[in-house]
Amino acid sequence: MDIQKFFAQRIGGTEFGKVQQTFKFTLIENAKRAFMAEHPDLPVIDMGVGEPEELAPERIRQVLAEQSAIKANRIYPCNGTQPFRDAAARYLKRLIGEDFNPSTEIMHCIGAKAALAQIPLAFVNPGDVVLATAPGYPTLPKVARWLGAEVIDLPLLAENSYLPSLSELDALIQSKKPKLLLLNYPNNPTGALATPLFYKQVVEWAQQYQFLIVQDAAYSDLVLDGKYCSPLQIPGGRDVCLEIYSLSKGYNMQGYRLGFVVGSAALVKAFGLVKDNTDNGQFIPIQLAGVSALDECAGYLDYNRSKYARRMQRVVEILAKAGIVSRTSAGTFFLYIPVPSNFGGRNFPNAQAFSDFLMAQFGLVSVPWDEAGPHVRLSMTFEVGTTEFPTEESVFRTLAQRMQV
Ligand SMILES: Cc1ncc(COP(=O)(O)O)c(C=O)c1O
Repeated sequence: MDIQKFFAQRIGGTEFGKVQQTFKFTLIENAKRAFMAEHPDLPVIDMGVGEPEELAPERIRQVLAEQSAIKANRIYPCNGTQPFRDAAARYLKRLIGEDFNPSTEIMHCIGAKAALAQIPLAFVNPGDVVLATAPGYPTLPKVARWLGAEVIDLPLLAENSYLPSLSELDALIQSKKPKLLLLNYPNNPTGALATPLFYKQVVEWAQQYQFLIVQDAAYSDLVLDGKYCSPLQIPGGRDVCLEIYSLSKGYNMQGYRLGFVVGSAALVKAFGLVKDNTDNGQFIPIQLAGVSALDECAGYLDYNRSKYARRMQRVVEILAKAGIVSRTSAGTFFLYIPVPSNFGGRNFPNAQAFSDFLMAQFGLVSVPWDEAGPHVRLSMTFEVGTTEFPTEESVFRTLAQRMQV
C-alpha cells in the first residue's frame, strides 16, 4: 500500500515526510548541544525559550487542586462556563474600560493558539486574502493557507515603530480586498505596542472596505511601558474585530491552556460554532483557576512586568557595552535586536548566522528572525534559582564576563 497517497495536499501530499526540513528551533537546539559538548563546564544562558519560567501563583494552583476534586466539575464544559465569561468581562472592563455581554460577546478558548487555528474556519473561504504582520506567530496564517487563502505578509519595521506601514496597508486593501487582517500587539517578537491612532485608522478601513480584524492580545498583561489599547475601544471596532486574550503569559499559565475571544455577538457566535465542533472546552477547574487569576492576581501581573522590565534593562546595558545596540521593549518579555552590520570585525549574512555566533561565542541562546530584516530575539523568561544560575545577577554577571564588558 502506498501510504503517501493518504496525506492531504496541505501538508505536502505524496511528498509528506520525504523533504527534510530543518526548523528554526531544531537549529537552535543543535547549536546549543554543540556548545554544551564543547564546553561541558559552562552553563548555557538560555534566552530562547519564549514562555514564563515560574509556576503560576499559589492561589491559582490551589483553586485548580480544590476544584478538580469536585465531581460536578468533571463534565465537558463545551463552549464555556459562566463564571469564566463573567471574570473575563470584569478583566476587560479594568483593562480597556469597555463593557461586554459575558453571555454573548465573550467565549473561552483552549489557549490563544487554539482560537487562532479555529478563527479561519469561521471566516476564511478559499481564495480569500489574509494580511498578517511579519515576523509573527504562524498559526492563523498557516491554517488560512490550508483553507486556500492567499496570505500576504505586512513587514514590521523599526521605522514604522513595528506597526504595518499605513500606506502599504492602504494600497493592499485597495488592490487585494482582504477578508481578514491579523494583528498582534503587544507584539511577539518585536515587543512593540499599537496606538489608538493606528487602531482608529484600521477600524475605519475595516468598516469601509469590509474586512475582519483579528487582534491577538496574548501579551495584553505584559505592557511594560505605556497602556494596553484595543481596537475594541474604537467606535465601531466591535463590529469588525475579534480579540483573543490569553492567560498564558501574564499568570504563567501556559500549560493550563486558557484564553478567551471577545467581539460582537455575531462574530463570537461564528467562532463558537467552529469551537463547538472542534473541541469540548477547557476543564472546568482550569476555567475556575482562570477566574481566580483574572479576579485575584492583578498584583502578580505587576510582579511579572517589573521582573521582565528590570531584566530587559540590564541585558540592554550589557549588550550596549559589548557594542550591540538594542532598545527595551514597551511590551512582552522579548527584546528584539537588529543584527549589527559589524560586530568585532565580523559580518553576518542573516539572523541565523548571528544567532549561531551568539551561541558559539557566548553560550547565549537567541531566536533568529529574518522576515523583516535580520534580528534576534532574547526572552527575559530565563530561569534562575538553579545550581548554574542561583540569582538573576549571576546571569548578568556571566553574560557580561563572556562578552568581556
Ligand atoms: C503572539 C502569540 N500568540 C499566541 C500565543 C499562544 O498563546 P496560548 O498559550 O494562549 O496558546 C503565543 C505564545 O507563544 C504568542 O506568542
